[in-house]
Amino acid sequence: MSEIQADTVVLGAGPAGYVCAIRLAQYGKKVVVVEEDDLGGTCLNWGCIPSKALISAGHFFEQAEHASTMGFTVEQPELDLSKLIAWKDGVVKKLTGGIGMLFKSRSVDWIKGSAVLVDGGTVSVETPEGSVRVKARDIVIAAGSEPAPIPGFDFGDRVWSSTEALSPEEIPQRLLVIGGGVIGLELGMFYAQIGSEVVVVEATDSLLPGTDPDLVKVVARKAKKLGVKVHTNAFARSWEDSAGVARITVEISGEESVLEADRILLSVGRRPRTKSLGLESAGVKVDERGFISVNEQCQTSASHVYAIGDLTHGPMLAHKGSAQGLVAAAAIAEKAGAAYDKRVIPSVIFTDPEIASVGLTEAEALEQNIEIKVGRFNFGANGRALSIGKAEGLIKVVSDAGDDTLLGVHMVGPNVTDLIAEAALAMESGLTTEDITLTVHPHPTLNEVFMEACEDVHNLCVHSPG
Ligand code: NAI
Repeated sequence: MSEIQADTVVLGAGPAGYVCAIRLAQYGKKVVVVEEDDLGGTCLNWGCIPSKALISAGHFFEQAEHASTMGFTVEQPELDLSKLIAWKDGVVKKLTGGIGMLFKSRSVDWIKGSAVLVDGGTVSVETPEGSVRVKARDIVIAAGSEPAPIPGFDFGDRVWSSTEALSPEEIPQRLLVIGGGVIGLELGMFYAQIGSEVVVVEATDSLLPGTDPDLVKVVARKAKKLGVKVHTNAFARSWEDSAGVARITVEISGEESVLEADRILLSVGRRPRTKSLGLESAGVKVDERGFISVNEQCQTSASHVYAIGDLTHGPMLAHKGSAQGLVAAAAIAEKAGAAYDKRVIPSVIFTDPEIASVGLTEAEALEQNIEIKVGRFNFGANGRALSIGKAEGLIKVVSDAGDDTLLGVHMVGPNVTDLIAEAALAMESGLTTEDITLTVHPHPTLNEVFMEACEDVHNLCVHSPG
């Protein structure tokens, strides 16, 4: 067995691990990354990037179908699925290749293999060429998450996780989506746009539980327009293959029904990948659900072992993992003041229209007995939104009634996944809604909707009727 000495070994090369590794190298550390798959983790290979590529293609397809509204005559568009998948794979390859180049340019070493912790300073890696032992002062665990199964639904050819749904060989005529959360709706709406009959089975009484209901309403309306059928208070219990068709037994509001589909997309959440990492040998504690608890420096219960990304508590978001990666790197390099602050982590959902939020919702603020003011403005009254033909949605602002600071911003509408960064910056900087109203926003732009929602907090919104 060969042995390598490094300053830090990072387990996993997703957006948490690779960002941490590069920052450590920028701080002058000798870093070894261990990754068993391609660089980039779930986000680049089987998550954010491929899904956004497909979703943008779905929008294109739909827009071409409705181009006549703007005076264009376009023949019924046809989709060559294998070309679309090849284009999507090309986007992924460009980005994952980019990480390899960054590693090379920063002298970050990458071992392809699966790692287990031997103790708090040693990792053993199984590679096709044999075992390698890496010794380091610090270890960063960034092994990510995987789709969670439910009893009776094993992933396979007919029961898809998001991974299979991102590389279909054919478009299912009927797709049953179990779980009306982020993946279920993003991919469910994409499949509806490219022609599948989509049925969503959601356990709670609403799609996207936890999201402001005013936002969900707008997306639910569009889903209905696309022909997506939604069953709430519904649980998928079992399924059987009947001559190539999946027959799924579903309990809807206590009553059993059987639904038929060609494919099932199981999207009921993800679980941390912390089994089989040898965490106990290094003294790293996990909770009963398998998540690793960390402090503000992303340090685990073992002093030189850090954990970042999906396998720690909090939202499973790439940018949260990257933010933690930078904090862990700074803590390892002993930079003063490195701390992860979970208050301002925006969330973005690529449904049609998109949803984006940061901070407290109205309901969460009220639960915490905070006196709030709420302002809102509709995209329907915004010149830019109308001129791009995407005027559905609104921005809602929650502020502290006492000192006017922004507590939360919630958006549904065109390009809101880009617009949310202004709100996140404002919250991070402790700005008030008045500060936003005093900031001159260019015209005509979608960002004006945020400014007008802030004006509405003060009943001074120029473009809304009194
Ligand atoms: P999710 O937590 O967003 O949604 C799961 C849904 O399944 C929930 O609505 C839940 O009530 C429902 N559910 C649970 N058990 C059920 C059952 N037996 N029958 C019917 N419904 C059931 O999880 P999802 O969509 O799988 O996504 C996993 C993670 O990936 C999330 O944490 C999400 O934030 C992240 N993600 C983020 C994206 C983004 O930032 N745009 C894109 C895709 C995923």
